[in-house]
Amino acid sequence: MNDNVRPETMERITTKELADAFIEEQVKAIQEQVQDHKVLLALSGGVDSSVVAALLIKAIGKNLVCVHVNHGLLRKGEPEQVIQVFKNEMDANLIYIDATDRFLDKLAGVKDPEQKRKIIGKEFIDVFAEEASKLEDIHFLAQGTIYPDILESDGIKSHHNVGGLPEGLNFELVEPVKLLFKDEVRVVGEALGLPHSMVYRQPFPGPGLGVRCVGAITRDRLEAVRESDAILREEFAKNGLEGKVWQYFTVVPDFTSTGIEDGKRTDAWPVIIRAVNTKDAMSATIEEIPYELLKHLTERITHEVKGVNRVLYDLTPKPTGTIEYE
Ligand code: XMP
Repeated sequence: MNDNVRPETMERITTKELADAFIEEQVKAIQEQVQDHKVLLALSGGVDSSVVAALLIKAIGKNLVCVHVNHGLLRKGEPEQVIQVFKNEMDANLIYIDATDRFLDKLAGVKDPEQKRKIIGKEFIDVFAEEASKLEDIHFLAQGTIYPDILESDGIKSHHNVGGLPEGLNFELVEPVKLLFKDEVRVVGEALGLPHSMVYRQPFPGPGLGVRCVGAITRDRLEAVRESDAILREEFAKNGLEGKVWQYFTVVPDFTSTGIEDGKRTDAWPVIIRAVNTKDAMSATIEEIPYELLKHLTERITHEVKGVNRVLYDLTPKPTGTIEYE
């Protein structure tokens, strides 16, 4: 039997009861697989790795070693949430690495989007492998592989979430959610007690805010992306759009334009707002944001975010635009 194929008899996990049964079964399977060995996990704070972390904590407690690498391209408050949920609330064995300087130094001056992605991906593996080499007694690596990743890796694989074990990391894999679809992973996550905001969060690309700070990333423009994104998310939550819109974020392109503030001319960036709906990310439509909210967002972003003098709203569906800008 190929254990990468979901049996036809497997029931779709849609309720807490079904999730609880799945959790119980996986806890046993994990305990049997890893015995009293240690397991390593790169915990990004995304849905899949968070659910895997919570499952393994339940199964083997402190024998799970979580490594959270902050590449400096995370959204505002994300590393803090990972530390709060996993270290403070779940008492996990969590190593936090702030690798911001290392990533941003490597990315300095790099304009090409694919080159940026490559640097971020490679640097991530290097940081993680360095950390792994400091730890003794690790035989297993847990991964948040889900069923669509397995299905996609058989077909045409895009540049997203390219799986597989990084070179130099020779571990046996622990992949407890590999036969689940995303909606099932979320139901399991809630049953494990993870916060709703973590389990139902919008998709976020691996290279993070790096693909929304168009062109060569600079620290000040990256902060403008991060701060404007935080305002957008706060306002969407307040206005009941969170959970209703598939993906929403801000982008800061690398050009400036003339503006005026306190009677003086300014030379500052625009912030672009993007909010899209889609089923499978292959095509996307535009979410109609209420005009009053757009005006309020413009007011807040232009006044609260340093280096910004305009706000633009992107009306482009996919195609012709992709969801992200790079
Ligand atoms: P595009 O921009 O291609 O995005 O329309 C489709 C979906 O994929 C996400 N995305 C990525 N996810 N690594 C990821 O893990 C990436 O490099 C990447 N690029 C785009 C994007 O956020 C959207 O949900």
